[in-house]
Amino acid sequence: MRSVITSICIVLCSILQIAAQSVSSPDGQIQLSFSITDLGQPQYSVLYKSNPIIKESKLGFRVKNKKGFDNGMTIVSSDVKSNDTTWIPVWGENDSIRDNYNEMLIHLKNKEANTLINIRFRVYNDGVGFRYEFPVQKAKKLIIADELSEFAMSGDMTAWWIPGDYDTQEYEYTKSRLSEIRMFDNGHMQNVAQTGFSSTGVQTSLMLKTDDGIYLNIHEAALVDFPAMHLNLDDTNFVFKSWLTPNINNDKAEIVTPFSTPWRAIMISDKATDILSSNLILNLNDPCKIIDTSWIKPIKYMGVWWEMITGKSTWSYCDAENFDLATFDYANAIPHGRHGANNENVKHYIDFASENGFDQLLIEGWNIGWEDWFGKEKEFVFDFITPYPDFDIKALNDYAHSKGIRLMMHHETSASLRNYERWIDRAYDLMNEYGYTSVKSGYVGKFQPRGENHYNQNSVNHYLSCITKAAEKKIMVNGHEAVRPTGLCRTYPNLIGNESAMGTEYQNMKPGHVAILPFTRLKGGPMDFTPGIFRMDFSSFAPGNTEHKRATIANQLALYVTMYSPLQMAADMPEHYSEKSDAFQFIKDVPVDWSRSIYLDAEPGEYIVVARKDKNNANWYVGGVTDSNARYYELNCDFLDEDSLYEATLYMDGITAHYDKNPESYIITSFEISNLDIIPVRMAPGGGFAVSIKKK
Ligand code: NOJ
Ligand code: CA
Repeated sequence: MRSVITSICIVLCSILQIAAQSVSSPDGQIQLSFSITDLGQPQYSVLYKSNPIIKESKLGFRVKNKKGFDNGMTIVSSDVKSNDTTWIPVWGENDSIRDNYNEMLIHLKNKEANTLINIRFRVYNDGVGFRYEFPVQKAKKLIIADELSEFAMSGDMTAWWIPGDYDTQEYEYTKSRLSEIRMFDNGHMQNVAQTGFSSTGVQTSLMLKTDDGIYLNIHEAALVDFPAMHLNLDDTNFVFKSWLTPNINNDKAEIVTPFSTPWRAIMISDKATDILSSNLILNLNDPCKIIDTSWIKPIKYMGVWWEMITGKSTWSYCDAENFDLATFDYANAIPHGRHGANNENVKHYIDFASENGFDQLLIEGWNIGWEDWFGKEKEFVFDFITPYPDFDIKALNDYAHSKGIRLMMHHETSASLRNYERWIDRAYDLMNEYGYTSVKSGYVGKFQPRGENHYNQNSVNHYLSCITKAAEKKIMVNGHEAVRPTGLCRTYPNLIGNESAMGTEYQNMKPGHVAILPFTRLKGGPMDFTPGIFRMDFSSFAPGNTEHKRATIANQLALYVTMYSPLQMAADMPEHYSEKSDAFQFIKDVPVDWSRSIYLDAEPGEYIVVARKDKNNANWYVGGVTDSNARYYELNCDFLDEDSLYEATLYMDGITAHYDKNPESYIITSFEISNLDIIPVRMAPGGGFAVSIKKK
């Protein structure tokens, strides 16, 4: 990654003990103040356009068997500096990103306990971030019992939230007032006793809106060697408190000084579109650590996958009754005949994907063990190197390469860390041997060893070690069920995607789900949402499948633009794309890397409209999605170059289209436009629109 410094200005000063001090955003609209309470506890507050947006909120830690990180502190000194630089992402929504902030670093000491802690605040035009830094001090190893960071909200407000959980983010969002969160069950109350969450525990990124129309988003950035942070709400005073995911013995983290925590981040704006375009999380992450990034490439892919999800075929090779992997002889087994990853089927997909310009083809269920997996919670199942008898790994990779595409590896780790770590070197070496450049890894189920969970310090370290190891072997990683991303893709751009939220494989989601994810989950990094479903009724795929996708085809096309990711799947089966080749044209055309993105209009959970410019040419693509309400939208094309003509192709919902009643109805029209045009569009309930705009 090249980093271009356009300008830099650093001003350092030291100020002795001062009761309260503040730092403002470069545009002066956000002001953060820091002070110490009478008991010597640090606290901060934030003003937005001179109004309190975060009230006085405590900071600090409780450390096991060690006093002095929560109170009794005095300010030793403070430094301020400013930064205005621009960096170039390997892939992204924009081809350059401005990193412009004012910083205040407070050095604190508890003289009696002889402990030191620094708090670094950064204030940007789009929000604030702070992190704790434990300098080298007498106590080397610290066991964090609790983080005391608070986010004291200015009052009751609207939140779009998913419940606290240590193992999954795969929930639909609930929209409610803060005061109403405990009224909703959503199935997480059963976790409350086990986890120590209050019944108002929620996950980040948390989207909020005040009654005055201020949008806020609380998340974290650069989650490294620390547990994921959830938030417990005191719903009398509307104060969120940091709730770190505990490790196996119920402590929160073990750190060795010097140590810096992840950033705690709050995006702030009076425009919903500013939250979508905010780069706060990426900017708070470290620059790219991979020196040669030439092998990291955005990927458009298909997969031998949706047919398993819908029940048409299976991951497994034979029947699973009384199955024992340790003694099973696959070579002489009788296959059940519905195994999806077989040579003939994979070749058929390779042909289709290559003819239609895709980069890669994912194949799941290629390796032995699936018969002995789901629901059994065994610690040692997959070895990640032994193909099923009907999957010729060499021949299929050779065939794919001869057709100009690559196969994408799949590692279902079965959430067994010890087993995956035991095999990972051999698994990645096998990928190198056959020419795989990307892996979809997954962590389904209860973590092994027992008592571990998906979001604690140990797991967070595991995921990152896989990403750095993969980088050494020039492998891109798309992690499913891993901890939700926190912008680490800036530092390690081979982290090309993540799931960590409810994606397309949950077929019955409410239509508004796709209009909240870009405000929440996507703030940490791209999602492998797997859009592009064209056949909405699944009853013909497998007996008893009564599922129905709650979206229109135009909505599915729009997702390639509204749901930013450098890794995009055309998730449906080849035959469904052949049936509707005119609509499929948009998926073939749409790029996966952009030079510019403009969020035109949005409201969390309701609608999003965004225009993006292809990184490799002068063409633009626009996508719009809506919740279960129909909407009219006037697309003002003033973002196009002046004095230029473009050929627009509009993919719109049919007149009677509806996510439930008539999901497959669409209309395609083409016409000439310039930057002076306004295109009227209508989105059906659960629908959307997509436009390709090619320069003439
Ligand atoms: C869950 C993943 O999200 C899904 O995409 C995958 O097919 C299954 N696990 C099997 O690994
Ligand atoms: Ca999943």
